[in-house]
Amino acid sequence: MPDPIAVISLQQDTPELARAYEQLGVIQFNHGKLLLEPLALRSGERVLDVGTGTGRLAEFAAHLVGPKGHVVGIDPLESRIAIARLRQSTNLVFDTGRAEDLSRFAAGEFDVIYFNSVLHWIADKRTVLAEAQRVLRPGGRIGLTIQDPTAPHQSRLLLRRAVAESGLDAGRLTAHGVHAATDDELRALFDQTGFVDYRSELRTLVETHGSADELLGWSESSAFGNFLDGFSYAEGKRIRAAFAELVEAHRTPEGLKLARYLRYAFARKPD
Ligand SMILES: C[S@@+](CC[C@H](N)C(=O)[O-])C[C@H]1O[C@@H](n2cnc3c(N)ncnc32)[C@H](O)[C@@H]1O
Repeated sequence: MPDPIAVISLQQDTPELARAYEQLGVIQFNHGKLLLEPLALRSGERVLDVGTGTGRLAEFAAHLVGPKGHVVGIDPLESRIAIARLRQSTNLVFDTGRAEDLSRFAAGEFDVIYFNSVLHWIADKRTVLAEAQRVLRPGGRIGLTIQDPTAPHQSRLLLRRAVAESGLDAGRLTAHGVHAATDDELRALFDQTGFVDYRSELRTLVETHGSADELLGWSESSAFGNFLDGFSYAEGKRIRAAFAELVEAHRTPEGLKLARYLRYAFARKPD
């Protein structure tokens, strides 16, 4: 078994994957809008979007806080930040950066911080939440979405089957969702890092995809090079073909319908 802390690489993204994510990332955007709703962004607020990707949700947040507020989006992947920077808005700034190190920001600089589908890629959540705590003002709000290890996405289960049916070891599928967290784990982390009013909910999100290729392209681009990366090209081809057959069981007149499960968690820095 590879060391799970080492399996996520930030070095394997490509401009093509980033462009594909921008094209297909509307799924994540819709999940993100459900994250922003309870955070109730108000005009004039200062917001930090960590792991912003190509910045679509940050642009939406900038619209919500209006010209008196502002949104900063950071992401370690340069190709994604390059696309995000094409978004033109005077109250929106993007930069490269990692969640584990927010030292460029002053204590109390933000009213709201959020992470949309980011934390299941990060091993050291405690450092991330401690940093988030520091940059929030007293009373500031935090929200995140994260995969829950007890509720894997349907597409993930199919992919595991596809690997096994290709005669390969599904244990090699380590990267995606490796740092998922349960409600209890999140509650403890928020508690240890000084947040209050923690609450979370596991939501079922049913997505429709036109084809297996589209679904695989979406998974691949959102995993920034960590999807089937431990497999050879020929193995990957076999897995994709097996997956395309298996996923047909989910075909409806509207397309391939599969459920994803995301935990939505919220808390507040004490006043
Ligand atoms: C599935 S994408 C979500 C992007 C964006 N939040 C959205 O809603 O479209 C996951 C993002 O997490 C980012 N990420 C991974 N590790 C990170 C880290 N250590 N710090 C900050 N972001 C990270 C990736 O670069 C990627 O853009």
